[in-house]
Amino acid sequence: MSFQPVLLTAAFAIVVSTAVHAEDRGAAAVSNQELKAKTDYCKTCHGVSGQGFRGSFPMPRLAGQQPEYLENQLQAFIEHRRTNPVMFNVAHVLSPPMLKALSTHFKDLNPKPLGGAPKELVAEGKKIYEDGIPSAEVPPCASCHGPDAKGADAFPRLAGQLHDYVYRKLTNWEKERGQDKAKPDNSAIMQPIAHNLTETQIKAVAAYLSYLE
Ligand code: HEC
Ligand code: HEC
Repeated sequence: MSFQPVLLTAAFAIVVSTAVHAEDRGAAAVSNQELKAKTDYCKTCHGVSGQGFRGSFPMPRLAGQQPEYLENQLQAFIEHRRTNPVMFNVAHVLSPPMLKALSTHFKDLNPKPLGGAPKELVAEGKKIYEDGIPSAEVPPCASCHGPDAKGADAFPRLAGQLHDYVYRKLTNWEKERGQDKAKPDNSAIMQPIAHNLTETQIKAVAAYLSYLE
């Protein structure tokens, strides 16, 4: 009996050291310098710390975004399932390891939300976020995006997202997402929800989300 814990400890040490080496190899595919050059470029549009930027049209916040969602979107831009000429140009030149590294880079950034939405809409938006709109068959947003709107895995974080960006996406969903009928993707989950919300309801929920930290 007495030697068993020693064996277990040794086995554990081997597992850990293999994992560390595997990680080293993955990271070596993209140097820190290359990654920094790329993320500096992303931030020329997506703002300091990926906080988003409000110019002639809104650049979405990437800070705190779920890596799996980010990766899915970059892939969707490349494959024209999500149409956006700017992001197609940015994404289609990325090597697979760079695409992976970029997807995780933004997760730990946590700048304050830009805010700026009409505050009088926030209470109504919170209600929609938490309860949905049963009469229009809109489920609570919180049931998928999480009670704190931080998302998980393929469900995106919405907390702190720019209100004018959220408004544009939800009013234009069917024209931009899921554009390859032969390759259905997760955008189909949001399609009926975006479709059933009125513009007033979208403005309210977008205002609520834009202030969440
Ligand atoms: C020239 C400006 C520009 C640059 C540079 C740029 N982006 Fe974008 N990006 C945009 C715009 C505009 C959108 C919004 C597209 C839309 O409205 O659907 C966007 C959207 C995105 C989205 C989707 C966000 C979401 O919430 O669904 C991701 C992910 C993204 N960009 C990642 C990146 C990464 C990573 C880089 C750097 C490699 C980068 N972008 C560089 C302009 C840019
Ligand atoms: C049944 C699950 C589900 C519910 C309920 C839901 N969503 Fe989503 N939502 C998703 C998924 C999955 C995606 C990512 C789609 C993709 O990858 O193309 C998404 C994406 C989004 C996006 C795009 C984010 C971005 O950065 O471009 C917005 C905005 C959004 N949802 C808002 C809402 C709002 C507001 C509600 C409530 C009225 C809601 N969602 C309810 C699953 C859901």
